[in-house]
Amino acid sequence: MNQQSHERAPALHADGSLRHLLTLEGLPRALLERLLERAQHYSRPLGTPPARSQALQGITVATLFTEPSTRTRVSFELAAQRLGADVASIEMQLSSRLKGESMLDTIRTLESLHVDVFVLRDAQTDVPDLVARNVAAHVSVLSGGAGNYAHPTQGLLDTLTILQHKGRIAGLSIAIVGDVRHSRVARSAWHAFATLGATDIRLVAPPALMPNEQEFGGCARFHRLEDGIAGCDVVMMLRIQKERMTEAAIPGAAEYFAEWGLTPQRLAAARPDAIVMHPQPMNRGIEIASQVADGPQSVIRDQVRNGVAVRMAVLEAVIAGRSSPALSTGKDAADWRQRGPRP
Ligand code: CP
Repeated sequence: MNQQSHERAPALHADGSLRHLLTLEGLPRALLERLLERAQHYSRPLGTPPARSQALQGITVATLFTEPSTRTRVSFELAAQRLGADVASIEMQLSSRLKGESMLDTIRTLESLHVDVFVLRDAQTDVPDLVARNVAAHVSVLSGGAGNYAHPTQGLLDTLTILQHKGRIAGLSIAIVGDVRHSRVARSAWHAFATLGATDIRLVAPPALMPNEQEFGGCARFHRLEDGIAGCDVVMMLRIQKERMTEAAIPGAAEYFAEWGLTPQRLAAARPDAIVMHPQPMNRGIEIASQVADGPQSVIRDQVRNGVAVRMAVLEAVIAGRSSPALSTGKDAADWRQRGPRP
């Protein structure tokens, strides 16, 4: 492993297939569309059996989350299992990281145990990229969320949910509301929406929670909730990120809800058929009222359900990419081919 390299890990193999998924920024539209089509193939209504395949038979997927998670971690693990993979769920708080082992030594150890795909969540934005730059050629790294930088599978599942309800992304008015400044969800959603042709993407936030002007190019900015969601097709609420708020001055929960909470009355400013989204976990009574979160316009549970389908599509894509001709030039790839299927 080379800890000195500073080039970003390549997202794609030379043939354009997916190697690592660390951000949606810069990914080709055709690749996003292929992943979404495949995710739709794996998507099932609640109350019906989940989709299954053996596309990952013989593959081992490890999840390493140093930040809390319910949805992302569980849905990655279910996705891997439903594709026939072995899953190692590393309890980072019980791992040898606590004895001072470096992240790269942990990764090297797991590579020795035949892990093929790492799913990482970390508060540090550059950890998934560091790992991706240092794994063997046959190994892929998927971000499960990194700092405020990216949460790419969340961006894909948000996009899939909109497609299922609206049939398109281009031509929609999409409001991203709340703590945009600290949100990796907002950044990944924006990258996906812009790549797929959305031109009316609105950031709606109090000044302290609005990102820098240099970010989110092309998005309109609003400092009043009703103005920002007026006539919108999609209202994407964000969680107030208390854990990333060292520098942002915001009022208390009651004051925030009074001005920024999405209530049925405020939602009336959006289109009557607007959908309401939230990545969760939700702060009910702070950024969103329970009547809206659980109301008829909410698609929040669809977002969760789509998490497994999207992660199945991504896992399938990176494993399919291992047969990429680009790998044939690498020593690790040659080793991998000689080794053959795992026992
Ligand atoms: N949306 C999301 O990332 O949820 P978790 O933090 O529970 O994974």
